[in-house]
Amino acid sequence: MNILVTGGAGFIGSHTVVALVEAGFTPVIVDDFSNSERLVLDGLEKILGRSVSCYEADCNDAAAMRDIFEREKPAGVIHFAAFKAVGESMAEPLKYYRNNLGSLITLLEIMQETGTPNLIFSSSATVYGQPEHLPVKEDSPAQPAMSVYGNTKRIGEEILRDVAAAGKPFKIISLRYFNPIGAHPSGLIGELPRGVPNNLVPFITQTAAGLRPQLSVFGDDYDTPDGTAIRDYIHVMDLAEAHVTAFQHLAARPETALYEAVNVGTGEGASVMQVIRSFEAASGQKLNFHISPRRPGDVEAVYADVGKAARELGWTARRSLHEALTDAWRWQCGLRKEDARI
Ligand code: NAD
Ligand code: WQD
Repeated sequence: MNILVTGGAGFIGSHTVVALVEAGFTPVIVDDFSNSERLVLDGLEKILGRSVSCYEADCNDAAAMRDIFEREKPAGVIHFAAFKAVGESMAEPLKYYRNNLGSLITLLEIMQETGTPNLIFSSSATVYGQPEHLPVKEDSPAQPAMSVYGNTKRIGEEILRDVAAAGKPFKIISLRYFNPIGAHPSGLIGELPRGVPNNLVPFITQTAAGLRPQLSVFGDDYDTPDGTAIRDYIHVMDLAEAHVTAFQHLAARPETALYEAVNVGTGEGASVMQVIRSFEAASGQKLNFHISPRRPGDVEAVYADVGKAARELGWTARRSLHEALTDAWRWQCGLRKEDARI
C-alpha cells in the first residue's frame, strides 16, 4: 500500500519511512530538499536494503502533486513538509504562512479531487503554549500562538477540523509532537540542522563533538526543581512508529469524515540539566556549558498526557531518554564534517 510522505527526506519523515517499510507499507517521498540533503536517501537505502521512491517536488506545486497522485495512487498521506524555525518565522511570516498553510491547502484539494481520505498531519505541542495543567491533555484550552510558526500549526489544525466538520470525506489525525530527539540506532540517518542549531539536543551533540565551543543553558531561574525548563523528549523512532499506528487506526475507522488531535510524547518531563547529565552518562563526554538568560518565547514546563494515544491508538513510547541521547551521539560521531551543514 503506497503512502505519500511529504517532507520524507527530513528528520522525522526519514525515520517514519523506515517504520513504514518495517510495517509493510510502501512509502513514497515527496520533498523539495529545502531543508534536507540527498544523502538521507543513501542512509535509507543502507538501512532498508533497497531504495525508496522519491519525487523532488514542492507541495505547493499543484500540477506536480497531481501528477504524483495519479502515478502513485496513495492510500493516504503523512504530511511533514513545512518550515520549522521559530525565530525565522517571526522575521519571515509570509514565507511560513505560504509554505506551511499553502502546501496543506494544495494537498487537501488534491486529496479531495482524487478521493484520498487518510491524512496524518505534523502538529506540535507548541499549540499549547504554557498550559495551566500538566501533563497537558488534548482538550486543554487553546492559547494564542507564541510564534508565527506555532500559528501555522494552530491554523493548520483548524483547517483540518473544518474540512472534516463539513462532512468532506477526510479522515485526519493531527499528531501533536512534543520534543523529538535521537536518531535511528544504525547511526545512518538523524537530525541535520542547518547552521547553528535552535534545538537543545543537536546543540549538545555538536558541542561535545567540538563543533561549538559551549552550550548556553537558557535560564536556571524557572519554578522547577533545578531551575531549568522542562520538556517531554521523545525518541524519533518512537514518534515514527506513532505515525504507522495512527495511519493503521485511521484506515480502520468506519466513519467517512473524522478529525482527531493526539499528543505524542513520553508523558515524562526532563529538565535541561537532566538532559545534560543524561547525555554525559550516555556519551562518556563532559559537556562544556554555562547558564545564560532565558530565551524569549520559551515556556517553563510542558509534558504530555499520553492517555489518548494509549487508549485510542494503542501506542506508547518505548525508548528512554538515555537511549535517545546514545543514538543522537552515535549519529553525530558518524557524520562527516562536509555533510554536517554547520
Ligand atoms: P525537517 O525540516 O527536517 O523536515 C521537513 C522536510 O520537508 C524537509 O526535508 C524539507 O526539505 C521538506 N519541505 C519543506 N517544505 C516543503 C515543500 N513545500 N515541499 C516539499 N518538501 C518540503 O523537519 P522535521 O523536524 O522532520 O519536522 C517535520 C514536521 O514536524 C514539520 O511539519 C514540523 O513543523 C513538525 N514538527 C517538528 C518538530 C521538531 O522539533 N522537529 C516538533 C513538532 C512538529
Ligand atoms: C528545549 C529546552 C530551551 C537550546 C522547539 C519549538 C517547538 C518544536 C520543538 C517544532 C528549552 C533549552 C535549547 C539551547 C537551551 N518544534 N535550550 N540551550 O523550545 O521546547 O521547542 O522545538 O514544532 O515548536 O519551539 O525545544 O530544543 O529548542 O529547547 O538551554 O541551546 O532547551 O530553552 O528549555 P522547544 P528546544
